[in-house]
Amino acid sequence: MTTDPSKLLTADIKLTTIDSLRSTTVIPFLRRTLDYMHAYPFIITISSEKGGVGKTTLATNLAIYLKAMREELPVTILSFDNHFTIDKMFELKGQKRSGDVHDMLLGAIASTVVHVGQYGVGYIPSSTELSDIHERFKGPMTLTRMLAESGISGIVIIDTRPDLNILTQNALYAADRVLIPVKDMPSLDNCRNIFSLFEQRGIDKKSLALIPCLVDERIKFEGVFKDQKTLLRAFAANRGYRCLDTYISKSPKVESLNTNPDGKIYPILTHARGTEVHGQFTELSRDILHSYDATPESRACLYYTWLAEKEGKKKESYLARLEGLADRCLICGALLAVQPEGRSFYYETSDRTARGFLHDSCFTDMLCASLYGMTSDSQAFGAARMVVADKAGKLVSLLLPKTAHNETTLDYRQFTTTGEQIFQKDVALDGFAEGTLEGINSRLYLLLNESLAGYEGRLRNGIWLAVHPVDPANPDAVLHEEHYRSLQRTQGLIGAAIA
Ligand SMILES: Nc1ncnc2c1ncn2[C@@H]1O[C@H](COP(=O)(O)OP(=O)(O)O)[C@@H](O)[C@H]1O
Ligand SMILES: [Mg+2]
Ligand SMILES: [Zn+2]
Repeated sequence: MTTDPSKLLTADIKLTTIDSLRSTTVIPFLRRTLDYMHAYPFIITISSEKGGVGKTTLATNLAIYLKAMREELPVTILSFDNHFTIDKMFELKGQKRSGDVHDMLLGAIASTVVHVGQYGVGYIPSSTELSDIHERFKGPMTLTRMLAESGISGIVIIDTRPDLNILTQNALYAADRVLIPVKDMPSLDNCRNIFSLFEQRGIDKKSLALIPCLVDERIKFEGVFKDQKTLLRAFAANRGYRCLDTYISKSPKVESLNTNPDGKIYPILTHARGTEVHGQFTELSRDILHSYDATPESRACLYYTWLAEKEGKKKESYLARLEGLADRCLICGALLAVQPEGRSFYYETSDRTARGFLHDSCFTDMLCASLYGMTSDSQAFGAARMVVADKAGKLVSLLLPKTAHNETTLDYRQFTTTGEQIFQKDVALDGFAEGTLEGINSRLYLLLNESLAGYEGRLRNGIWLAVHPVDPANPDAVLHEEHYRSLQRTQGLIGAAIA
């Protein structure tokens, strides 16, 4: 597999993975299974930070052309803008609205808010309330996941606002094709921000393409750049931006489609067939259909498959971690399956051969007795025990037995999870080597012996034991991916600190 587990931590921003998956096999079985379950959309995002460049006209009419050119292909459109052009154009008379873009972004299954509208195009009603979404939308791939999970198939077209907020970014990263309308130098200059977003995240820019829009055919220049579109193309090429061969001309007829006594917005296909723009939309749609056909696995599909696989791996390694645990509390010896309550500590040796849980009272009492010589009959025991418990519950305890001249001492330390040493104490382990420990030290003896003893009962040289506090309400959570990873980080820091 191409995905190195250590790189998965920042999973959501590892978008480059999608591109690497495209060229390799993503567990064919898994993919087939997912395919049976549902389809994935091919996503086209129309984006430009400039307003008035023709985004919405492009998005809405493209939807209509695609549907007209391939009747059986589901085409769905949605907009993150609040001008309701989509609704005006696609809403059927008297159609009841059940859910909108806002609901989808809050987690409603996208397919349930798709309305089949005019011209057979599916649309998700617009919303004016998207501003509160920006805070919820933290990850760049949230929308990709939502659309991948939606079960919507065919082509989804996303019309965006003239900005690069987190919603627009999500729409950009989700897209198999991003169309960036440019009509003049300022709009061309603005493209830089989209391209650099992709560069910053290390994502392949091949989905991005400029399309000259609102091109005034009457304007002619002297010299090489004979007209607007040639000039724009030349500048685009000069900056390394891919530009489509297709462009969209400026047409008074097209402009007039928005302005009607009945407040409707008419499509180019039905109301401006005689214009050049009609031919241009046909050409653009053909190009889009071609890349749709040439893409067996859309970005949404690849991302979702990758996520599912990652989840599967996580589950597998979690189960593997559960497998290796000791079945008893090493201090009291009780079977944890019988006495699972009160597991407040997780221990792991530096060589990871011994791992398991300890009861809260077992470990705390052991510390009180062995480290501080406290006995329950001493007067201040209750208060002192609370202090010991409090410290042990916040810090990671290190237990490192050292043998020199036939005498064993225990190097006991406490660390923060970031590896900062807070406390150190040497504890004499008289009789440890002979196994003749009695009384207060026997609990410590059991713990060390069970976890650190190797061949013929001798301590494994240089191996230490760390005891980490865990949430007693859900101790197993420490073995979950992220949690366990940070525990491992702490283990590493402790190892480095005592080296
Ligand atoms: N090909 C075209 N010819 C003439 N006018 C157009 C054309 N495309 C769009 N327009 C007009 O330009 C204005 C802006 O278009 P719009 O699609 O709303 O842009 P954006 O979504 O980028 O703000 C609208 O008034 C629209 O009618
Ligand atoms: Mg618009
Ligand atoms: Zn116990």
